[in-house]
Amino acid sequence: MNSQNSSQIKLLELENKFKTIFGCNSLGAYRTPARINLIGEHIDYNGGKVLPCAISYFMTGLYSLNKDKKIVAYSNNFDSKFSANLETISYKKRNSWSNYVFGVFAILQQEGYKITQGMNILIDSNIPLGSGLSSSASLLDLVFFIANDVLKLEINLETIAKLAQKTENEFCGLKCGIMDQAAIALGQKNKAILLDCGKFKYEYKDMALRTYSFVVLKTNIPHNLVKSKYNERVDECNRALEILKQKFNIDNLCQLYEYQLPECEKLLNDPILFKRVRHVVTENERVQQFSAAMTAGKVEEMGRLLCESHKSLKEDYEVTGDYLDTIVDASMNAFAIGARMTGGGFGGCAIALIKNRYFEDFRFRVDKEYFAKLKVHPDIEEVDIVDGPIKLK
Ligand code: GLA
Repeated sequence: MNSQNSSQIKLLELENKFKTIFGCNSLGAYRTPARINLIGEHIDYNGGKVLPCAISYFMTGLYSLNKDKKIVAYSNNFDSKFSANLETISYKKRNSWSNYVFGVFAILQQEGYKITQGMNILIDSNIPLGSGLSSSASLLDLVFFIANDVLKLEINLETIAKLAQKTENEFCGLKCGIMDQAAIALGQKNKAILLDCGKFKYEYKDMALRTYSFVVLKTNIPHNLVKSKYNERVDECNRALEILKQKFNIDNLCQLYEYQLPECEKLLNDPILFKRVRHVVTENERVQQFSAAMTAGKVEEMGRLLCESHKSLKEDYEVTGDYLDTIVDASMNAFAIGARMTGGGFGGCAIALIKNRYFEDFRFRVDKEYFAKLKVHPDIEEVDIVDGPIKLK
């Protein structure tokens, strides 16, 4: 069976499920992808450049309208249903995943959009949850995309990304940057997005790597973007910025240059804060170098930068941990050209750049070494670089 047939069968199954759950037919179906970030980690909220792309795992949403002024959300993965009144939506811990659906409507209304009609929404996902591939940003973008299309709100994709970030920040409480929501909303087939997060300007970079490709390695340790740990890094960067602003004329840490680091070290007078700043400044620089190497087809140089990025995230930013470090080491022992964690860290996923034809051998070797050390099997998969949100039906 080809993949188009199997996704049509899947959609039929979801339409039947929708009928069982909501007692009516769905009126339309949409989907959003997941994302990996090639390089530029923990850079978005520091105003620098990142290089993500949308990948072939998907969040699918089906909807119908209701007359009760309620948002009713059902997850096919968890088999759980939550409902919220449009006029009284607020964050509730017990609403778990559905906060991401309700949050969209809370923010839309806060932004002045009149939502006059309730909606029933079924969500189905093959994006592994809590794996660092941005299932939460995908869900937020999906619900914004559906609401926008169905209620004819005329919001463009850039604004969808910004509103989705706002929802995550203000409604869900994670102080994340714009990278994930933008990567998913603006994804294009076989392109990476070089996004300047400070200016919100972006350009597409060709991902034609010919005989090489990126593979995704799931550590199979959920990262549950330990809100507190992630927010702690954001706070550290903000503290460092406040101190450095007294001397340098900067709005964000990515406006610093490497040659200024010795002076930063003196001013900060705090080894932890200094390590955080060193990561941010060097990582931002690596994004520019990586992007140039990609344009020039210098694969070995790309690989070297991936490894440097991981080292910096491990030693200076301290967001990797045993599982990510082991999978990156195992990848390099299995002849990857380069490898690094991707996303927020603290567990989750890594990426490796390999020669296409070594894939099976690579997977075998990494699995063997990783399992021998950690007694967990990783999932290692080739993924496609895909378009952003689409209407399926
Ligand atoms: C998470 C956040 C992003 C970004 C990455 C780290 O995925 O949601 O905004 O900060 O971590 O680069």
